Amino acid sequence: PTIRQLLSPSQVSSKDALVEVNGWVKSVRRQKNVVFAVVSDGTCASGMQAVLKTDLAPKSLTNGASVRLCGRLVESRGRGQARELQVEEVNVTGDSDPDAYPIQKQSLSTEYLRDHVHLRSRTDTNAAMLRVRNSLLHSIHNFFEGEDFCYVHTPILTSSDCEGAGETFRVQPTASIPANGPDIFAPVSNITTPAPSSSTENPENKEFFGKPTYLTVSSQLYLEAIASSLSRVYTLSPAFRAERSQTSRHLAEFWMLEAEWAFIHSVDDLCSLVENSVKATLRSFLEQEDDISALWGNNDAAEKDRRLSVLRQARDASSWPRMTYTKAIEILQKQHEASPFEFEPIWGNGLQSEHEQWLAASLGGPVFVTDYPKAIKPFYMRLNSDKIPVGEEGHSRETVACFDLLIPEVGELVGGSVREERLDFLLEALCAHGLASRGPNGIDVKDEYKWYVDLRRYGSAPHGGFGLGFERLVSWVTGIENVRECIAMPRWAGRMVV
Ligand code: 4AD
Ligand code: MG
Repeated sequence: PTIRQLLSPSQVSSKDALVEVNGWVKSVRRQKNVVFAVVSDGTCASGMQAVLKTDLAPKSLTNGASVRLCGRLVESRGRGQARELQVEEVNVTGDSDPDAYPIQKQSLSTEYLRDHVHLRSRTDTNAAMLRVRNSLLHSIHNFFEGEDFCYVHTPILTSSDCEGAGETFRVQPTASIPANGPDIFAPVSNITTPAPSSSTENPENKEFFGKPTYLTVSSQLYLEAIASSLSRVYTLSPAFRAERSQTSRHLAEFWMLEAEWAFIHSVDDLCSLVENSVKATLRSFLEQEDDISALWGNNDAAEKDRRLSVLRQARDASSWPRMTYTKAIEILQKQHEASPFEFEPIWGNGLQSEHEQWLAASLGGPVFVTDYPKAIKPFYMRLNSDKIPVGEEGHSRETVACFDLLIPEVGELVGGSVREERLDFLLEALCAHGLASRGPNGIDVKDEYKWYVDLRRYGSAPHGGFGLGFERLVSWVTGIENVRECIAMPRWAGRMVV
């Protein structure tokens, strides 16, 4: 059994039965006749207190060592735990030099742990964060299953840049084969090593798929295709962005929850879906009291209470406020007059994260901002108009049926929209974004987007969806300041330790 099972109040074990406990030593306290060791296997926030007679405890029983203990579970006389293990047999399966072990008992700096990211999950906070990730994922799956959404997998390798922000990573095979070399798809036994030559490289090989290939920035376009038959789909997928800015909210590789829903009526439907799914994760998180304690340790108790009460309020609120981008700009401009932001809020510009954080903070919780200017959004968002706009001016004043969910401290947690389901509007938007051009025979869509346009030719349905940055959700609920601490092995510009 795991330590979580052994410590669970529902576990009824016969008093005299011998149990085996496996884990890593978190601390050792040697007294004259007895030794106390705390052993953790990571299955729960608390470790198992093990009590050994001194002559049973080998020298190698030190902080960081892995152990297999046999003993009997007894009621604990000490404070803090209901049961402890009276150890009868100790087996140190892997020792750990206590002086060299990088994870010492005293608190370690964030930077230090980023340099030792392969050992970071041995700290209580990081382990608790990983368990929180796990339970948030379960609550997401439960929620979407309950709403009849089907969990699907979409490709990581892609030929399109969904967001059009030019933040893609390009992928190429490392080995290239000369043009006169062997057919790479032939069975291995038929391949003869080509003689070294100065022949030109085969461009097909260099691209592997015969066209430029990228790591996905978003699964949305593929989800739209599948939602055109399964109606309600979602995925949890890694997303990659060559984002150079060093902020507490951006990773080069992050996980995104994305859902796509056919036959919606409006942005409001999407906001409700997002609100309900995030509330489901809050309910699940707020039940994890042991991990919450582990996350906060002995840190500022008042701050912990304040943060938890914001989460509880968000969980219990009947509905989160919604306002249009135009209204948000108005409010921000008023605030700017009273106390200037670094960037002046101007209609037509994107919201800066200082604006987003201020809006959420001033409302004390999550807020939806909807209907942003068309000019600052990707091609796929549905235009809030029945007419295709003409001329520069027409384009610049139009808005699209989209929303961002803003939360305190983090800023943007979710972005989503109704998708442009009208063929002629979509073609127009593709042209405006340079993904199609007007030729003598009509509009010529780039090869990478032709399939997407097909979705509007055959049974197009009103639909929409959203993407939620999973590490940002983890950061919000746990109060961990930086998304780099909200994933086991973070990657960001300039940094890939392991
Ligand atoms: O707002 P974004 O760019 O939207 C999309 O990619 C849409 N195609 C999603 C959709 O509608 N299916 O990204 C969605 C969310 C953001 O709100 C943010 O929380 C997160 O993904 N995100 C990042 N998280 C960590 N690091 C980054 N570099 C991120 N970029 C976006
Ligand atoms: Mg966004």
